[in-house]
Order: sequence, then C-alpha cells, then structure tokens
Amino acid sequence: ETALKEVATTFSVGMAVQTSRLTGDYLTILTKEFDQITAEWEMKMSVMYPSSAGYDFTRADELVEFAETNGLEIHGHSLIWHNSTPAWVEDFAGTDAEFEAMVKDYIITTVTRYKGKIKSWDVVNEAFEDGSGSLRNSVFRQKMGDDYIEKCYKWTREADPDVLIFYNDYNMTTDASKLGSTIDMAEDFIARDVPIDGIGFQMHISYNGPDRATIESAAKKVTDTGLMLHFSELDIRANPNNDMSELTVQRAVDLQEKYKEVVEIYNAIPEESKFALTVWGLRDQDTWLIDFWGHQDWPLMYNNDFSVKKAHTGFLEGLE
Ligand code: G3I
Repeated sequence: ETALKEVATTFSVGMAVQTSRLTGDYLTILTKEFDQITAEWEMKMSVMYPSSAGYDFTRADELVEFAETNGLEIHGHSLIWHNSTPAWVEDFAGTDAEFEAMVKDYIITTVTRYKGKIKSWDVVNEAFEDGSGSLRNSVFRQKMGDDYIEKCYKWTREADPDVLIFYNDYNMTTDASKLGSTIDMAEDFIARDVPIDGIGFQMHISYNGPDRATIESAAKKVTDTGLMLHFSELDIRANPNNDMSELTVQRAVDLQEKYKEVVEIYNAIPEESKFALTVWGLRDQDTWLIDFWGHQDWPLMYNNDFSVKKAHTGFLEGLE
C-alpha cells in the first residue's frame, strides 16, 4: 500500500513511539509511513525531571537524535500533565514562590534545549475535569494559581519565539463542558495576546463512536477560533465492550470505515488549521489500551506481525 505521508500532503502524519522499539520492521515502517513522531512517555516531566537533584534528558535526547537522523519532525509531549508529575513535585517541599520558580526553570530549560528541534509542544495536557470543565486541582493550580496555564505558555514563548504551543486533552468531541472550557480559554488567550497556537484532540475513540457529526462539530469549534487542530493520539477500539462474540470480520471493516471517516474529517478542516494527525502506536500489541482496559483490542493500523490492516486502507481512502 502507498505510504501515508506520500498521500497526506497538507498535514503531517505522526506516530507515538518509544525508544525501546526503534529497530527492525518497526523502524522500517515508521520511516516509510510517517513524517512526525511523539514520545509516548520519554518527554514527560516524570522522566525529564525525575528528582530535585536535576534534569535527565537522556531519553528525550535519544529520541531527538533519532528523529533528526531519520528526517522526522518531533511533537513535544508533554511538559505539564497531572498524570506524569514526579513525586518530588507533587510533594514539593518549598514555598509556592519556589515551586513557581522551579516550574519556570523546567519549562525554559527544556524548551530552550530543544529549540529549533522540537517545533511544537503539548505544554499542558488534560487540565480540565471530565464532565464539568472546571480546572483540575493539580499541584500546579494549587501552588501557582488558576493562571498557571497562562504562565507556562508565556515561559514557553519566552524560551522559543517560534515553537508552536498546544493545549491537549481527551474526550474533546464528546465532553461539551471540557471543550467549552478549552475554547473559552483559547479565545481569552487570543484576546489578551497570551501565546497559544493550537489545540489537540487526543481522539481515543471506538469503531462505533463518536459519530461523524459529533467529531466535525467539535473540530469546527476549534478551527473557528483560527487555531491549529491536532488529532494527537488517534486509536480506534474494535472491542470497546469486550463482547468478543460480535468481534467479526465486519468489525475489522468498520475500523476501515472509521479510520477513513476520521481522516476525511481532518483532511477537510481549513488549511490554516492543519497541523498533524497522530496515531498512538504502530501495532495492535503496542497499544496502551490493552493494559488500561484489561482486555484485548485491535485499535491500530498494523498487525502484530507488522502486516498492514484494513485500517491502513481506510486511512488512505480518507485522503482521496
Ligand atoms: O519501559 C519503561 C522502563 O524502561 C522504565 O524504566 C519505566 C520507568 O518508569 O517505565 C517504563 O515505561 C512505561 C512506558 O509507558 C512504556 O511502556 C512507563 O512506566 C509508563 O508510565 C508509560 O505509560 C505511558 C503513559 O502515557 C504515561 O506516560 C503510556 O505508554 C502512554 O501510552 C500514555 O499515553 C497517554 C498520553 O501521554 C496522554 N493521553 C493519554 C495517553 C494514554 O494514557
């Protein structure tokens, strides 16, 4: 089949990678199909700033080196996330002022280190609560105030005038309050010249939902602001209810249909809002979903033997 990046001419096709997998068929397919990578875990605070003793950019450097060697763009993910905050930060032993200074130094140090190499960052990931859209009461909010996101975006811009600053979250097409809070924040930032360049929809969806109209209307709310839109972590569960009895060839075809639909939707957004469509892994066995939900699933575009699936065909059909 044709390589995805050969057909996706108006946006990058990305994939979540791990340093432990960058060899053999995985490497061959990655470099053939994709033109952008996202670190599945190596560029999170828990890895890059493991203790108050200092930074550890070993793994991030390894991925940046790999990307440069293989002509791949890198999307940075993710500087601030309540689920990847190191314990020493959660239990910070200093004053709020010292905490803020530490976060500022972390952001400016990290963004400066990869200036010109990492050209876009999920600076803050998943800051709003499910169902209410209120700001999560993370340690960053507690110690830096409700405007911690604004502060982090300004520090990022201060470190690199060209880097694209994204806000990233999940369930953005189905949780109206979360999307609403995100759009309100984006419009407020735009109005006050607080730096922000794009919004990421993680797109951890299923073969049977959300439907096209739901995804399209949520995407339009972002593109209407003029910001870029990133479908940042796409995987499509074939077995959301673990009802293996229904898991038929038809389900596999459905994945082809759903991949085609998602790509069609992304391909149809205004050109100025296009950035990238990123899938969250290569082979089905690589997916985080199996551990997370505790049962089998087949959400990605490649079989475990590295053979291509109908989902890949659907992706290409979505670009026609
Ligand atoms: O393999 C390493 C091991 O070498 C290392 O010593 C150990 C130390 O922590 O970590 C092991 O890596 C694990 C890594 O996945 C690779 O398997 C980490 O423990 C584990 O925390 C990490 O989980 C990742 C998770 O984010 C937390 O960072 C998942 O791979 C990744 O799929 C998941 O992705 C998140 C997005 O960032 C945000 N949106 C939700 C999505 C799913 O949770």
